[in-house]
Amino acid sequence: MKLAKRIENLPPYLFVEISKKIAEKRAKGEDVVSFGIGDPDIPTPAHIIDRLCQAAREPANHRYPESEGLPELHQAIAEWYQKRFGVSLDPDKEVLPLIGAKEGIAHIALCFIDPGDIALVPDPAYPVYSIGTLLTGGNPYYLPLTEKNGFLPDLDAIPEYIAKRAKLLWLNYPNNPTGAVAGLDFFQRAVQFARKYDLAICHDGPYTEVAFDGYQPVSFLQADGAKEVGVEFHSLSKSYNMTGWRIGMVVGNAVMVDALKRVKSNLDSGIPQAIQYAAIEALRGPQDCIQEHNAIYQRRRDLVVDMLNSVGLEAKSPKASLYVWAKVPEGYTSTDLATDLLEQVGVVVTPGIGYGKGGEGYVRLSLTITDAGLVKGLSRLAGWRDSKNRFRAKR
Ligand SMILES: Cc1ncc(COP(=O)(O)O)c(C=O)c1O
Repeated sequence: MKLAKRIENLPPYLFVEISKKIAEKRAKGEDVVSFGIGDPDIPTPAHIIDRLCQAAREPANHRYPESEGLPELHQAIAEWYQKRFGVSLDPDKEVLPLIGAKEGIAHIALCFIDPGDIALVPDPAYPVYSIGTLLTGGNPYYLPLTEKNGFLPDLDAIPEYIAKRAKLLWLNYPNNPTGAVAGLDFFQRAVQFARKYDLAICHDGPYTEVAFDGYQPVSFLQADGAKEVGVEFHSLSKSYNMTGWRIGMVVGNAVMVDALKRVKSNLDSGIPQAIQYAAIEALRGPQDCIQEHNAIYQRRRDLVVDMLNSVGLEAKSPKASLYVWAKVPEGYTSTDLATDLLEQVGVVVTPGIGYGKGGEGYVRLSLTITDAGLVKGLSRLAGWRDSKNRFRAKR
């Protein structure tokens, strides 16, 4: 048996490796506190689950769904974008439901990337942007996200010959893993860049609803001309704690949406209809849950940031997203630190290198940890700090 080169060269998915390590520790009876994956611990709101259960009992929803999703869901997504961002979308041509944003993010590479083509990918970043590019035989050209630039890519620093060859530009704000945010001015510059070099923008915005201190993230599609050059991926995963139900969407440029629809109609058979009805309920129903969840995350953010700074892992308070991006102390790599914390005090953090070379020097902590887990995790971090101080004092 000979596997394709694309599989042989495919790195294991970051969180599969981390989950394996946690499972091994737990199997040995060790208690592990995880600040790893960004998977909300707060349940899906009850009114959404009620609609899901009701829809699951209707026999019409037991059959194959249409790949492109229910027209009513297209309509609900368009209404939500209008209400939340003031962005008008044609529900038929500019909206496509997805089996979670991840699926669409990976598959859109098939619409743009031929072998040898270039996609501009931020570094560090959610790994799927580069994985989709690599699986289609393309080459990611990495755009460093640095603290100095507010973790925004410097589009002017991209060499002309690369920009001319690039087919896609990936962006993601509020950002995973850095927690950075982007304003409309940045998106406006990105649209101008895309026009100049005739490339398509894929903005990934699943964290626009997770924001703190009254901050309201914008949509890429609010930038003038955005719909002429790009799409936005979004998701119900983080806004409504629906990671397990697998539902998201892509909206914007009709040609890009149609290309992805053509790929998907050949690959998948759509989203289970009961889940689509639950999504309609989420988008059209009461929205107070978003503020309630954000108040919980904000409180956790403050506790985590204070503790990290007190143990010598410098961290700024993110305005949005589910993540705190903390600097690794001198003398450690991000992997050393993550390993040390796991081995010494049973705390899981994600090493920044997992998000690309540009993530070295940082670790990511997710705020999707129960309050009890958080208290335990913070006291373990304090214990880790104290043991290091003792260690230093002895030398
Ligand atoms: C930046 C980013 N995009 C997309 C996703 C995937 O979202 P979904 O659950 O809709 O597939 C995630 C999940 O963590 C993410 O962090």
